[in-house]
Amino acid sequence: MTKKVSEKLENIAIIGNGGRENSLAWAIQKNTLIKKIYLIPGNGGSGTIKKCQNLNLDYEDKNLLIQTLNSLEIDFIIIGPEIPLAKGLGDFLRSKNFQVFGPNSDGAKLESSKSWAKSFMRKANIPTAKFWKVSSIEESEKIISTAPFPLVVKADGLASGKGVFIPETKEDTLKITKEIINGKFGDSGKIVLLEEKIEGPEISIFALCDGKKYILLPSAQDHKRIEENDRGLNTGGMGAYSPTPILSNAELSIICKEIIEPTIDELIDRKIEYKGVLYFGLMITKFGPKVIEYNCRFGDPECQTIMPLMDINFVNILYKCAKGNLNGDEKVLSTSKVSGCVIASSKGYPENYDVGFPISFNYDEYENVQIFHSGTSINEQGDIITDGGRVLSVVCQGEDFDSAFNTAYRVLKGINFDGIYYRKDIGNQVRTNYSYEGH
Ligand code: AMP
Ligand code: GLY
Repeated sequence: MTKKVSEKLENIAIIGNGGRENSLAWAIQKNTLIKKIYLIPGNGGSGTIKKCQNLNLDYEDKNLLIQTLNSLEIDFIIIGPEIPLAKGLGDFLRSKNFQVFGPNSDGAKLESSKSWAKSFMRKANIPTAKFWKVSSIEESEKIISTAPFPLVVKADGLASGKGVFIPETKEDTLKITKEIINGKFGDSGKIVLLEEKIEGPEISIFALCDGKKYILLPSAQDHKRIEENDRGLNTGGMGAYSPTPILSNAELSIICKEIIEPTIDELIDRKIEYKGVLYFGLMITKFGPKVIEYNCRFGDPECQTIMPLMDINFVNILYKCAKGNLNGDEKVLSTSKVSGCVIASSKGYPENYDVGFPISFNYDEYENVQIFHSGTSINEQGDIITDGGRVLSVVCQGEDFDSAFNTAYRVLKGINFDGIYYRKDIGNQVRTNYSYEGH
């Protein structure tokens, strides 16, 4: 069953169950023309966002998905996470005449195959770390013994942000490479990428693309490590702030000319019509900005951090991307405020953790504060409980980062669940004072 192309923009579906999708829904509901937003499947907090409703349906059940989208008269679908994008949900929905924000599987390959993305960058002359692609123990031994040390080891495919290692010795480099080739990440590790280790601050840049043109969202900086002072294991992200003062306009225009525009041109050359957000994970090295990774989706928690800064026109811009008619000069910002986000996670994350703990919310309401749920659900008694590693994000806006983060941490003191953990130094690069005594 194929639907007629819709011209109205009233009912939206967002695929995904994280904080990213909740923050997108929150930014979109502000537009008065939007009537209803369905989160598929959403989480324990999505239902509290105005106009939002969870739909507990498996997007892999294609017939049911199409039937449901048609019966709810959905005008526009936003696909949040990388897995459905890589699996071709965008291709499928477009084949059924839906307007979709999120690339097809060909464009999603920029994230789903790191070695493909590296060859793409090499072809388009886009600055990135040197790399070697290996798929056997023999090849790995040869490269590791001859390439300059240290090397960054990466599983080629999707690994929920856990497939990157920076070992301290050559022995450990070989050991982890062997483990990945031998199946640590299943098929995602059939190919391993060994990369030159580059240095510098990292920033996240988001370009909304319509297949030809793009507009930029404000830049953000994420905090990937689990412990304060950027120690411990890599996570999906423990907090973020936006915009990043380290990025001058001159540097941003270099990034546009040397990285963003060549990426879009190369996509066009390859006949890949990329309609969605292109996420550039960059490192600002002393030799200039270099691409660490591409993602085919919004960053989490960067998205939660940036969404409160968006103009009510935001949903129309996403829709224009889907339809391929962006002007390239649309205004996205509604404020000159800055935004900060702190993630509260479950004890043990990013390794093993327990779920099912009730969450209590006991804080004064402040203006410019949003709580976006990530890993939460509602139990049979109707209580909100923890249901994931990263549980929720507290996002605050202010005239400066000190005031934004002071409010965020004040709110966090009033949120509790068994084993709650959060970093106390989020935004340390942009705050003047961050001594804190909390939970
Ligand atoms: P990725 O999942 O590719 O973004 O990698 C996760 C993290 O590993 C990045 O945010 C960087 O901190 C680090 N990383 C990845 N590649 C490199 C590299 N070539 N040199 C230095 N650090 C890297
Ligand atoms: N915050 C990093 C990511 O979403 O990949």
